[in-house]
Amino acid sequence: MDKKVTVIGAGNVGATVAQRLAEKELADVVLFDRTEGLPQGKALDLKEAASVEKHDARLIGANAYEASEGSDVVILAAGVPRKPGMSRGDLLATNAKIVKDIIERVAPLSPDAILIIVTNPLDVMCHVAFQASKFPRNRVVGMSGVLDAGRFCTFIAMELNVSVKNTHALVLGGHGKTMVPLPRYSTVAGVPITELLPQERVDALVKRTREGGAEIIGLLKTSSAYYAPASAVVEMADSILKDKKKILPCAAYLQGEYGIHDLFIGVPVKLGKDGVEEIIEVTLTQEEDAALKKSADAVRSLVKNLDKIGS
Ligand code: NAI
Ligand code: 2OP
Repeated sequence: MDKKVTVIGAGNVGATVAQRLAEKELADVVLFDRTEGLPQGKALDLKEAASVEKHDARLIGANAYEASEGSDVVILAAGVPRKPGMSRGDLLATNAKIVKDIIERVAPLSPDAILIIVTNPLDVMCHVAFQASKFPRNRVVGMSGVLDAGRFCTFIAMELNVSVKNTHALVLGGHGKTMVPLPRYSTVAGVPITELLPQERVDALVKRTREGGAEIIGLLKTSSAYYAPASAVVEMADSILKDKKKILPCAAYLQGEYGIHDLFIGVPVKLGKDGVEEIIEVTLTQEEDAALKKSADAVRSLVKNLDKIGS
């Protein structure tokens, strides 16, 4: 392959991302983890599947950062996931240290890379990675909106008994309880769901979307979601690696867009070879705008906690 992607964290999300990247032949993949044997074992297992899956992507597992050198995209999925009853914010101190340490080692080895952050609490970890990498804002982007919008689409398709391929959804804001699913911009075959469903059903789908991560944790008990998160990451990587310029909801660093300053939060962006090539500003009603500002306040207060714990 002519592209190289390093996936940091060979756990549930990271290994599934590596599998999908390889099977779609998007890049050669380095799977990195601090646990000895884990990335090597998973990379070898995936390599052995290649003869059946019929792909030629190269996969290697590594515990040494040097293996990541010269990556086009670095995906950060290392850290501690939530357990039942935990909020994403509960992961703050532990994961901030992990993300800072990793990015300080990885960024100098791939100075032109685009960083896709997955680790939670997502918007705050983007901030940590942005500071630690010293990369320009277009080259640090967080995955959450594609997942949250994907969940919204799933619930819309289930509710209306239509193909999920006919659905489209938009979710803004931080990846947490304050996220802002936008029914007016969520459609089935181009028709807003606000015209297809009574308000109480729309509200129920919005609520389920907001609680989508917790619903999976409640079922799995010992881990959080990873199939849909991995699909979301790979859609973003695909748009970057192939310069597709897809408009996707992602956590991006805002400098005045939506009236929000110096903060990572979920908004629609154009993703291409230069990373976040454009931040798309959609018109919001007063209520939607207030919900986005409330979500931004929640992210900002976590960023302030980060300053207190010295990360
Ligand atoms: P996991 O526990 O299965 O995998 C995490 C991996 O990170 C482990 O293999 C661990 O050894 C590795 N790791 C930890 N510290 C490391 C370090 N310093 N250097 C290298 N590797 C290290 O967890 P999972 O389910 O893969 O989730 C990973 C992260 O992604 C969690 O923080 C989780 O909350 C987050 N997540 C975020 C989503 C989003 O929408 N943004 C969706 C799903 C998960
Ligand atoms: C999710 O939404 C855990 O953030 C992750 O599934």
